[in-house]
Amino acid sequence: MARPEKHILVCAHSRPEGDPKGSCQQRGSGSVAEAFANELGERELWGKLKLSTTSCLGICEHGPSVLVYPEGVMYGKVTADDVVKIIDQHLLNGEPVEELKVSADVW
Ligand code: FES
Repeated sequence: MARPEKHILVCAHSRPEGDPKGSCQQRGSGSVAEAFANELGERELWGKLKLSTTSCLGICEHGPSVLVYPEGVMYGKVTADDVVKIIDQHLLNGEPVEELKVSADVW
């Protein structure tokens, strides 16, 4: 497998109902991961970009969280509607989506 240009990590962590931290899964990360998978598939971007779901990325209250490497850009409160913009602007054109990035004191 050729090394992808960027790696997209979507937190899919789950916690029991009532846990005060909540989790990205409870906040809708499943639909975010699905939207990424659909877009990468439709555009045939799987060789260029790698998508993985992960356990907790440590910023639970700001989830659903999405981390992009090699830059280390962390997005928070991502919805499925944000996915096309992240792909077009950041993953394909190299400009992170500033309004979706978590603040510097978070990450
Ligand atoms: S549960 Fe997603 S960042 Fe912690």
